[in-house]
Amino acid sequence: EPEYSQHPAPRKLSLYSRKLSIGGGKPKDQMSLVSLFLGPSEGLHSHTLLLDEERGRLLLGARDHIYLLDPDNLARGPRKISWPAPRDRVEMCKLAGKSANLECANFIRVLHNYNRTHVYACGTGAFHPSCAFIEITGHRADGVFQMLSGTVESGRLKCPFDPWQPFTSVLTDQYLYAGTASDFLGKDTTFTRSLGPPPDQHYIRTDISEDYWINEARFISAHPIADTYNPDDDKIYFFFREVSREGNDKSILSRVARVCKNDVGGLRSLTNKWTTFLKARLVCSIPGPDGVDTHFDELQDIFLLPTRDGKNPIVYGVFTTSSSIFRGSAVCVYNMADIRAVFNGPYAHKEGPDHRWVEYEGRIPYPRPGTCPSKTYDPRIKTTKDFPDEVVSFVRFHPLMYRSVYPLTGRPVFTRIRVDYTLTQIVVDRVIAEDGQYEVMFLGTDAGSILKVVSITQENWSTEEVVLEELQVFQVPAPILSIEMSSKQQQLYVGSSEGLAQVSLSRCHLYGQACAECCLARDPYCAWDGHTCSRYIPASKRRARRQDIKHGDPANQCWDTEDSRVEERVLFGVQSNSTFLECIPKSQQAQIRWYIQRPGSEHREEVRLDDRVVHTDRGLLIRSLHSSDAGVYMCVAQEHTHFTHTLVRLTLRLVAHANLDGKPNTGEDPKVEVRHGGEPRQWYKDYLRVMSTHIGSLEEYCDSLWLEKRPRGRGRGIGAGKWKHIQEMKKSRNRRHHRERERQGASVDELPR
Ligand SMILES: *[C@@H]1O[C@H](CO)[C@@H](O)[C@H](O)[C@H]1NC(C)=O
Ligand SMILES: *[C@@H]1O[C@H](CO)[C@@H](O)[C@H](O)[C@H]1NC(C)=O
Ligand SMILES: *[C@@H]1O[C@H](CO)[C@@H](O)[C@H](O)[C@H]1NC(C)=O
Repeated sequence: EPEYSQHPAPRKLSLYSRKLSIGGGKPKDQMSLVSLFLGPSEGLHSHTLLLDEERGRLLLGARDHIYLLDPDNLARGPRKISWPAPRDRVEMCKLAGKSANLECANFIRVLHNYNRTHVYACGTGAFHPSCAFIEITGHRADGVFQMLSGTVESGRLKCPFDPWQPFTSVLTDQYLYAGTASDFLGKDTTFTRSLGPPPDQHYIRTDISEDYWINEARFISAHPIADTYNPDDDKIYFFFREVSREGNDKSILSRVARVCKNDVGGLRSLTNKWTTFLKARLVCSIPGPDGVDTHFDELQDIFLLPTRDGKNPIVYGVFTTSSSIFRGSAVCVYNMADIRAVFNGPYAHKEGPDHRWVEYEGRIPYPRPGTCPSKTYDPRIKTTKDFPDEVVSFVRFHPLMYRSVYPLTGRPVFTRIRVDYTLTQIVVDRVIAEDGQYEVMFLGTDAGSILKVVSITQENWSTEEVVLEELQVFQVPAPILSIEMSSKQQQLYVGSSEGLAQVSLSRCHLYGQACAECCLARDPYCAWDGHTCSRYIPASKRRARRQDIKHGDPANQCWDTEDSRVEERVLFGVQSNSTFLECIPKSQQAQIRWYIQRPGSEHREEVRLDDRVVHTDRGLLIRSLHSSDAGVYMCVAQEHTHFTHTLVRLTLRLVAHANLDGKPNTGEDPKVEVRHGGEPRQWYKDYLRVMSTHIGSLEEYCDSLWLEKRPRGRGRGIGAGKWKHIQEMKKSRNRRHHRERERQGASVDELPR
């Protein structure tokens, strides 16, 4: 089906570029986009991704279609299943006032591996959700890939009606858990369980009482997590935001909640409802100086970073502010121990719907509400139907924990405020670097871009946010709807309404041609291998891989490689005349020192400055050259902190007046070769060339030093041109500087304009 692999001509091709710097670097890096899948011309709406690294396939749930893609190259031989909504449903949907294009179609929202051969899929079906099994066997290119139309069933309580509503589902042990709205209007929001091995196929859901359980929720994420070594304790943890009414106040709050996997509902009350449901508030805020915190209350996405202990993944959450005035996003990190501690802590209590939640201080029934039934704990309580009535009725009115879950570091690990986008998605990769392990976050925005961020914790536990890259994946600033990461392939799959893009996790070659630049980038994926900035592979025993993520200090890493990229020049000076040794530092904070190594000497010494030898911020001006001024000059920059490196190495050779029309006086230092020499007269051309390349700087300094003495007018004509030249040079220096700052993690809005 080649029409889907190539973009049709009138479509906007989504270019992928790295934002180089403010002040307009051209998008340089179109190689970073590994492949792109655009789908049909009306847009792709790539909502749902199912990456199966083992079987080497990527399923994409989009509008009216499920695509089977090659994770190595999205454009290569895509296959598709067409699954439109029935025509009468589309008509009814339109009659109900919904958008024909954006709502009244079958948007695929559920795609899960069910068993080795089958995938379970659901779509919104033009506000009439339905589900079915998809059979996938054999090779991707020519195997079976079909929808089993005999298995189509209602998708109510499994899939949202509204394609744009946040929604989550997870399939485990053949059970489907879903957080969704259960009706056309999206009023009743609920967390449900369905499917399951036959014949045990009935729904379990949350109680309808909105004041206590779940109210106008937007479900973000759900995950099976074991709590102990006893499988009876296995739970589904899920994350959502909901409207909270406290008295007259109405606000949006984020929640973490959980249910036991073995919950089958209550016997007399809470029949077919969860009897182990508990929820707690998830806080992500910046502590303010006067005790007023800045809250990021609206959960947008969750990513669980696995650890060696399956029971304790690290929980990453992306939040935004609710305020319409203050737009901001933050990433907060939680650990499971803190979440469990809150569920093991006090319950909240509410006298009635119009009251506030307070701490529950009464007697807690046995077994503790929220505990999973297990024969191991109490042989009398085998299932949730064995719970005493008082446990069930306690859960009914006390599903909320009194304490909140706070982030691991007490505050966000990353924030974006005062920018014209918000964060929508997160995936996190754990990267082994030379100086430790780093978590690199890939954050999708609502403007079609991705930020690659690393949060670095220093020895004193202060953290530093470093934005490594900002990738404009899609030219059209539409929200990133889905991201999947393949650690195995080192790829990211990024979906928006524009299409699906495959992007590599690292692009080390972008960090320049030098060890210091590679090091300053502080990208844990990248290291200097002696020749280029390239992917760092920790297992390799290759020495001389240079990296310093923690401090970004090339001094430790690049000290012996620096000299190879030092600018080398030979300069001829005329005795008793002036000369100028130019050296312009890359960064404006750099401190410059000049050293000289005299002919025959083994050591270098710092150049002594006086009236005759003047240090200027563009170089060293030596007035009235002495024969003792000959030697090798080194311009050494000390960058921020303590990184020092040699920028320029200049060999100053002295020519006596008498020799100007003869051969240069090479007697002083036989070791220094006349680099451009050869022909007897060649040296003089070089001499003129060298002098003329420096004349701009000379003029400038002469201007500043002898301004009063010089007759006005002279050199004015040249001056204007030179001034422009100098301005150009300054600009390019500033650009370099910005780039440097950006690499070092300065946020764009901090930079001087
Ligand atoms: C997978 O599940 C489908 C649907 O229930 C069933 O028809 C099929 O036999 C199962 N396949 C295997 C290998 O269990
Ligand atoms: C921690 O160290 C960094 C530099 O490594 C410094 O900037 C910061 O102020 C220190 N923070 C604290 C709390 O000492
Ligand atoms: C050196 O200086 C003298 C006067 O001090 C001047 O006449 C001569 O042109 C200068 N030579 C060069 C090469 O600049």
